[in-house]
Amino acid sequence: MKILILGSGGREHALVWKAAQSRLVQKLYCAPGSDAISDLAECIPLDCCDGTEVAGFCAEKCVDLVIVGPERPLASGVVDVLRRAGVRVFGPGQAAAKLESSKAFAKRFMARHRIPTAHGLVCATLEQAAAALEAMKFPLVVKADGLAAGKGVRVCQDREEAEETIEDFMRLKTLQAAGQTVVIEECLSGPELSALALTDGKTYKLLPHSRDYKRLLDGDKGPNTGGMGAFAPVDVGPQVQQAIQAVFDAALAGLRADGLDYRGVLYAGLMLTAQGPKVLEFNCRFGDPEAQALLPLLDCDIAALALACADGRLGSAELKVRPGACVCVSIASENYPRAPMTGRPITGLEDFSTGADLMLFHAGTAHPAGRWATAGGRVLGVTAWGPDTTAARHRAYEGVSRIRFNGMHYRRDIAGEILAIR
Ligand code: AMP
Ligand code: GLY
Repeated sequence: MKILILGSGGREHALVWKAAQSRLVQKLYCAPGSDAISDLAECIPLDCCDGTEVAGFCAEKCVDLVIVGPERPLASGVVDVLRRAGVRVFGPGQAAAKLESSKAFAKRFMARHRIPTAHGLVCATLEQAAAALEAMKFPLVVKADGLAAGKGVRVCQDREEAEETIEDFMRLKTLQAAGQTVVIEECLSGPELSALALTDGKTYKLLPHSRDYKRLLDGDKGPNTGGMGAFAPVDVGPQVQQAIQAVFDAALAGLRADGLDYRGVLYAGLMLTAQGPKVLEFNCRFGDPEAQALLPLLDCDIAALALACADGRLGSAELKVRPGACVCVSIASENYPRAPMTGRPITGLEDFSTGADLMLFHAGTAHPAGRWATAGGRVLGVTAWGPDTTAARHRAYEGVSRIRFNGMHYRRDIAGEILAIR
C-alpha cells in the first residue's frame, strides 16, 4: 500500500513511526511532514487543508489510503474531496467533524442523543450570553464554538471573569470567527480521561484509556496547553467502563441516525464526575500527546486498522494491546504556549538511542544546516514503555534528561500521581 499521512507534529511522527512498521506499507508519504519525519516517510509540501491539492497528489502517486492527523483538514472538508475522488480515508467528513469543529453542534448532538454532558446554553449573540450568565451559577465555563487550538475554553470563577471572556471572544473577536458563538456550561469536577475509539461508523474498538496533562505547570497549574504529557493505560472499574461504552454506543447510533458517515478516531474527552462520566468535548482524531503514548502500546498493524476503518470492515480487524504501560513527556519551548521561542539549538538528539521501549517523537523541530533546533511550541515527546507505569515513567524521564536546549520546559509530574478510578 501507498499511504499518505497528513500533518507535521508529534502525533503525526508517532503515526508515521507506527505505519512504517506495517508489512502492508510499501511507500509512506507525509504532508507537509517535518525534518524528523523525513527519516521515515517522503515529505511532500502540500497544503493539507486544500482537498484538491491533496487529491491531485493521491491521483498522481496512486495513494491507497490517507490518514488525517490534525483537526483542521477534517474541518475544512479535505476528506470529502478525497472520497469523491475515490481515495480511501481514515478520518470523518466535514459534516461529522463538526462534532469537534463546533461545540454548539456537539452540544446539540449530545442533547439529541442523550449523551451525558455538562448542562449548557448555546449563545449566538451578546444578549443571549448575558441572559445565560443571569440564569447560571458560578463557577461556569465559557467555550468558543469553533476550533481554537486549546485557547477557546475558560473556567470562570465569577461574573467579572465570564463577562471579560465573552467580551474577548464575541466582541473583540480574539479568536476570530471561532468565538462568534459561545457555549456557556456548568463547571464539572473530577478526574479527566481521554477515551479514544477506532470506528468504521458501524462498530468501534476502544483503545486503552489515556490521561493527558493539559496545564503547563506541575500540579495542574498555569495556562492550558495542547498537552504536556500523557500516559496509558488508565484503568477504570467495570462501572465506569460500562458508562464509557454507553457514551460510544450512543454517539455511534446518533451519528448513524443523523446520517453522518464516520470513519476514523472518535475521541471523547471525559470528566469522571460523582454522577458518572460526562463528555467535555468530542475530538475527531487522535489526541496529541495521547497518540504518542497510545501508538507504541499497540501490538498490531495501524495501517491495517486504518484501512479496515476506511473500508467499513473494522469488525473483523484485530486490535491487540501490548501489556505494560507507556508514558510520554512533552518538552516545550521557552514561552510556550504564548509566543514560543524558536531556532534554539538542541543537543542530545544525534546519539539518542531509540527502540521498542524508548521513542522520541518530534513535535516542533527543524534540522537546518546540519543541526537540530527548536521550531515550535511543543518541541519533542519522549515516550517510554515499561512493565508498569512507574517503570515507564522512570525510563521516559531518563530519556528527557539526555536532551538539552536553552529555555527547555517540561512537567516533572507526568504519571506521577495515579488515581485509581472506580
Ligand atoms: P475542552 O476543549 O472542551 O476539552 O476543554 C478543555 C479543558 O477545559 C478540559 O480538559 C477541562 O480541563 C476544562 N473544561 C472543559 N469543560 C469543562 C467543564 N464543563 N467543567 C470543568 N472543566 C471543563
Ligand atoms: N491532548 C488533547 C488533544 O489532542 O486535543
